[in-house]
Amino acid sequence: ATFKILVLPGDGIGPEIMTQVMRVIEWFGERRGITFDICEDLIGGCAYDRYGKPISDAAVELAHSCDAIFVGAVGGTKYDELPFHLKPEQGLLRLRKDLVLFANLRPAVCFDALIDASTLKPDVISGLDLMIVRELTSGLYFGEPRGIFDHESGHIGINTQSYTTEEISRVARAAFDLARQRNSKLCSMEKANVMESGKLWRDVVQRIGDAEYPDVALTHMYADNGGMQLVRNPKQFDVIVTDNMFGDVLSDVAAMLTGSLGMLPSASLGAKDKDGKVPALYEPVHGSAPDIAGQGKANPIAGILSFAMALRHSFNRPDDCILLENAINAVLENGIRTADLLQADGKSAATTTQMGDAILA
Ligand code: NAI
Ligand code: MG
Repeated sequence: ATFKILVLPGDGIGPEIMTQVMRVIEWFGERRGITFDICEDLIGGCAYDRYGKPISDAAVELAHSCDAIFVGAVGGTKYDELPFHLKPEQGLLRLRKDLVLFANLRPAVCFDALIDASTLKPDVISGLDLMIVRELTSGLYFGEPRGIFDHESGHIGINTQSYTTEEISRVARAAFDLARQRNSKLCSMEKANVMESGKLWRDVVQRIGDAEYPDVALTHMYADNGGMQLVRNPKQFDVIVTDNMFGDVLSDVAAMLTGSLGMLPSASLGAKDKDGKVPALYEPVHGSAPDIAGQGKANPIAGILSFAMALRHSFNRPDDCILLENAINAVLENGIRTADLLQADGKSAATTTQMGDAILA
């Protein structure tokens, strides 16, 4: 099979890290016999500079025909004054919305070589490997009505949390499927004690579990307790599924269990189409880091680990995913560090390219 991929390097450090990701992609093409058909386009501020909007219609159309999309990062101070709908982030939001990428996968994996960099006790995080599945296209961030309205006593700011059975079901199934590929353990988080949408969430997830995934051990937890448990004993979890708002917060908490922003990948997946293809966008969690852009300091690992996720979730190559993750682990074990992974002044830091070299070697 040939996999068609769209590469969108974006702004700031995006192109620097994407250069390293491309080298890794090419390595897997040459050395592991995966055939890629690669297209490249613009997203974010650079797309605005060229087309007057943060992503062109042509790029969105191209995205629909691809097996996987890789984004570097978007944004920069130069674009801060643009109206909302032209801001760099809107390019990403448009892709997520157009492709209905409702399941956002954010892993938290502890690389033993980096344990010293964490603020937590080594025994709490050593060997940690969990995955948060955050609902990405509904809930509090999209519900209507929303806005700032006039009110007798002044103004009132309103957001609406709403979830349909269908929206809960599809993200739940994505999480159950993922749990099956891992340790068949899923924890669903909401606040069914105080929220109607939480009650529905809990019922729907439980019903799907009973009917379709009796082999997966399903538990439920209130999201506030979930936050506490993630810090107290994160290894009790394998896959967590939660809504858009709680997922935003909980995935940031989980991410920081393991260290630097420069290490965190993500995947956003949609629904299987009639040919069995799942639309997928892979990107590092970090932004465009204008403070270090163009200096060769950026850590490319988050971007490269995002490609590793694609090997597993889009290209059906779990062994190659493990190969790549092991290579990164070995590089870290050998003490090779970009500046963000060093406590000291960074004098001995590897550059972006040197990190890419080491991983390829
Ligand atoms: P940021 O993630 O770009 O940077 C935060 C801090 O982490 C900076 O000190 C940066 O140097 C460092 N950092 C980030 N990635 C790194 C890497 N790979 N290697 C080494 N150090 C790294 O977040 P910030 O500063 O809040 O936002 C900068 C711009 O990025 C803004 O325009 C923001 O809107 C945009 N942004 C874009 C995102 C995306 O494309 N998905 C996500 C977050 C922010
Ligand atoms: Mg967040």
